Amino acid sequence: MILSETAPNNVNWELMWAPYDETTYRDVLDLIKPHDIVLDIGAGDLRLARRMAMTCRWVYALEIQRAFLDQVCSDESYQFPKNLTVQPGDARCMPFPEDVTTGVLLMRHCDHFRLYADKLKAVGAKDLITNARWRSGVEVIHLQSERMPYWQIEMGWYACWCGAVGFKPGKVEHLTPELESVVHEAVNCPRCEN
Ligand SMILES: C[S@@+](CC[C@H](N)C(=O)[O-])C[C@H]1O[C@@H](n2cnc3c(N)ncnc32)[C@H](O)[C@@H]1O
Repeated sequence: MILSETAPNNVNWELMWAPYDETTYRDVLDLIKPHDIVLDIGAGDLRLARRMAMTCRWVYALEIQRAFLDQVCSDESYQFPKNLTVQPGDARCMPFPEDVTTGVLLMRHCDHFRLYADKLKAVGAKDLITNARWRSGVEVIHLQSERMPYWQIEMGWYACWCGAVGFKPGKVEHLTPELESVVHEAVNCPRCEN
């Protein structure tokens, strides 16, 4: 596990990396389609980016910690897939490629979810595959879909554009099994307003 220069007194969780489990990678790979052009935000040592490149049209991999990339590139046995573009740098400031269809954000401690979602939506990307909102498992967010203002949700689970998730309370007698199984894609939740 490699930490940022701010560790150990003030650990920057966003910059921490340890490989995810195979189930997580498998779940992402199952969601990638052959025509997808993927932007892997925080690509680490490229282990997932390389596998995605075997499945889809193109992968752009952004990684802020150059050391990870240098490590991979110094391995002479490593063969770069032709459809993988690696860009060292800070994804918060870098322009996102205009042809991206799908973002991949595996970052359970992400503090900039909204920024990444806004940037992907602005370039016309359709989907974001991520574990950043629920912080476990992987979900697909349809970036261009309509979202419900938080105040319009009567009761139930919500996942907001800002990255917050939660359960909006209501009257217990209104709670149904269906309501418990639905997640409302929301905007303007209480956290957005703080
Ligand atoms: C949890 S790791 C995931 C690595 C890789 N996607 C994987 O699943 O194996 C998150 C990665 O995001 C990188 N990262 C964090 N903030 C970043 C930023 N602003 N720009 C680019 N990369 C960033 C970290 O350095 C780290 O390698």
